[in-house]
Amino acid sequence: MNDPHASRPVSGAPAAAAAAEGGTPASAQVSTPAPPEAASAGVPARAAVVGAGTIGLSWARLFAAAGTAVTVFDPRDDLAEVLAALTADAGLPEGALTRASTAAEAVDGVEFVQESGPEEPHAKAALFAQLAEAAPEDALLLSSSSAIPASRFAADLPEAAAARVLVGHPFNPPHIMPLVEVVPGERTAAEAVERAVQMYRSYGRAPIVLKQEVRGFVGNRLQNAVLREAVHLVQSGVVDAADLDTAVKNSLGLRWAAVGPLEGLHPGGGAQGLRGLMEHIGPSFAAIDLHEPDMSAEGMEPVFAQTEAAYGMPPRAEIAAERDRFQEGVLRLRGEPQEG
Ligand SMILES: NC(=O)c1ccc[n+]([C@@H]2O[C@H](COP(=O)([O-])OP(=O)(O)OC[C@H]3O[C@@H](n4cnc5c(N)ncnc54)[C@H](O)[C@@H]3O)[C@@H](O)[C@H]2O)c1
Repeated sequence: MNDPHASRPVSGAPAAAAAAEGGTPASAQVSTPAPPEAASAGVPARAAVVGAGTIGLSWARLFAAAGTAVTVFDPRDDLAEVLAALTADAGLPEGALTRASTAAEAVDGVEFVQESGPEEPHAKAALFAQLAEAAPEDALLLSSSSAIPASRFAADLPEAAAARVLVGHPFNPPHIMPLVEVVPGERTAAEAVERAVQMYRSYGRAPIVLKQEVRGFVGNRLQNAVLREAVHLVQSGVVDAADLDTAVKNSLGLRWAAVGPLEGLHPGGGAQGLRGLMEHIGPSFAAIDLHEPDMSAEGMEPVFAQTEAAYGMPPRAEIAAERDRFQEGVLRLRGEPQEG
């Protein structure tokens, strides 16, 4: 068994074609196959993915491409076909993905479990009861949950199991997007948090640890804040949908691929950094009043109509292809490991 505390970025960690939030399943994201390789140092030898939909398949691809033997469970009827397609599309070694008939079988002997089943509190609680029962007593039990906190679905677990349960929330698809939000529950042990961080780093991911189980975590809260103001600006007729997107792509989006919002403003204040900048622009920024958008279906209608007029209906396939090309280019510029 490899040391889960070690952290060496994976040379073969994939990051080729593909999607962002709401993207296509990992099996459909064809790219240059990565050469089969043995497990990289620091990468767990065995892992389980429980739930093989959009997110689970992408995790399985990431872990298996790095050399981890991945066992996958999902009650879907076509699991065998889906795993075979993923193996072929991603150029994984034959046998890198093993199909299990039950969740308990999947987690036998693994170092960690990445649960990626339905986003439903009772379903997650039931699944985690099974995982806690069947997985090795030192295995990390991680959930991809977007909004259900670990404290909730681990509530009925014994202390020793709850100490190893936490959220590892990715951006879609996790084999491309580096961020993983590591969110411990009330009973998660500090040692489990540290192990999760090292484990995700070993796959070339960029984990951050949240200090509170806040709804939407960090990434989706930020996305929601920007979306709300975008909707408001379009609803109130300040800009149309296409110009709103042009503004973001040519200013904030471009900048935020390189620096975060705080890091980006810090140099703007000279020797005083962000403090100096806020002295100058703080009052005028504070005076920008933000309004509540109308997020009802009726209120959203003009936003829907303008978006569909600008980008086609159904959405044109080139949008996703362009998005993937740019994201891949940015990751390459940043020196991130690439697939293939
Ligand atoms: N889609 C996204 O953009 C996104 C991003 C980040 C996190 N997440 C989270 O990841 C998780 C999975 O989301 P998704 O988009 O992949 O959903 P999905 O519907 O594509 O996949 C869920 C899978 O779980 C399977 N499943 C149902 N019951 C199960 C059981 N008892 N055991 C194992 N598997 C079972 C289903 O057959 C399905 O294949 C959710 O918690 C979601 O909030 C989703």
